[in-house]
Amino acid sequence: MNLLTNKVCIVTGAAQGIGKQIANQMALDGAEVYACDLQTFTTDDAHIHPISLDITNSQAVKEVFLSIYKETGHIDCLVNNAGIVYNRRIGMIMREETERMFQVNVIAPLELVQFCSRLMARNGGGSIINIASVTAVLGSPGQVAYSATKGAIIAMTKSAAKELAQSGIRVNAVAPGIIQTERFAELYESDGEKIENRIQRIALGRLGSPEDVANACSFLASDKASYISGQILGVDGCASI
Ligand SMILES: NC(=O)c1ccc[n+]([C@@H]2O[C@H](COP(=O)([O-])OP(=O)(O)OC[C@H]3O[C@@H](n4cnc5c(N)ncnc54)[C@H](O)[C@@H]3O)[C@@H](O)[C@H]2O)c1
Repeated sequence: MNLLTNKVCIVTGAAQGIGKQIANQMALDGAEVYACDLQTFTTDDAHIHPISLDITNSQAVKEVFLSIYKETGHIDCLVNNAGIVYNRRIGMIMREETERMFQVNVIAPLELVQFCSRLMARNGGGSIINIASVTAVLGSPGQVAYSATKGAIIAMTKSAAKELAQSGIRVNAVAPGIIQTERFAELYESDGEKIENRIQRIALGRLGSPEDVANACSFLASDKASYISGQILGVDGCASI
């Protein structure tokens, strides 16, 4: 029996990067995965079901979650992975970008937790995993507004874990360090020297991979993590600023 046999998982932002790997890993671990993204994408994996969804569209989110529930009879895991980042130093922060980051990184995930927890509760519980960031814990120059959204997700995780425990729902966050994704390539291009300095402060001496994050998510989604809730799991190679 695999880690996630018989589980139905929803992963947001699953067209590329970390979310894509989380969806792949969860399917490999035996789950049926509903992989949502703004971008349309395809997969050869019969256990991954791509869905076009803008998580900031509440009505569309409600409809998608209800249709998954009607089709499968249960939702066991939600991974709030979709996120956006505008890297700006304090003097350059633009209000529209900050508002958009809060919309996608905080308000939408909170609404997804609302919708999903109601459906999970009908079947006795589930696991919610929010993707935060090491920047919320350690801070990062040039990411003041972005790190504020990730700090909000961490606070939300802890409170939701307390509130939803009575419904059998565990809520945890994974806080990745620097992960080698499409986004990393862009970051490196814009400020390679800063990134090199940060890599030198990773105790394990390497960048993270999407697989590192995906493995942590599969574990938290599984019954092996049944006594773990309200936690922020750093997947950052023991990074320091
Ligand atoms: N890459 C890193 O180093 C790193 C580090 C720490 C935390 N994170 C977090 O991990 C998560 C994934 O990061 P990534 O590097 O894979 O990012 P990415 O930009 O490569 O992928 C994000 C995905 O989310 C989708 N998305 C964006 N807005 C959406 C919306 N409104 N509705 C639906 N989908 C939407 C995008 O289309 C994209 O496919 C994010 O929450 C990010 O903040 C990433």
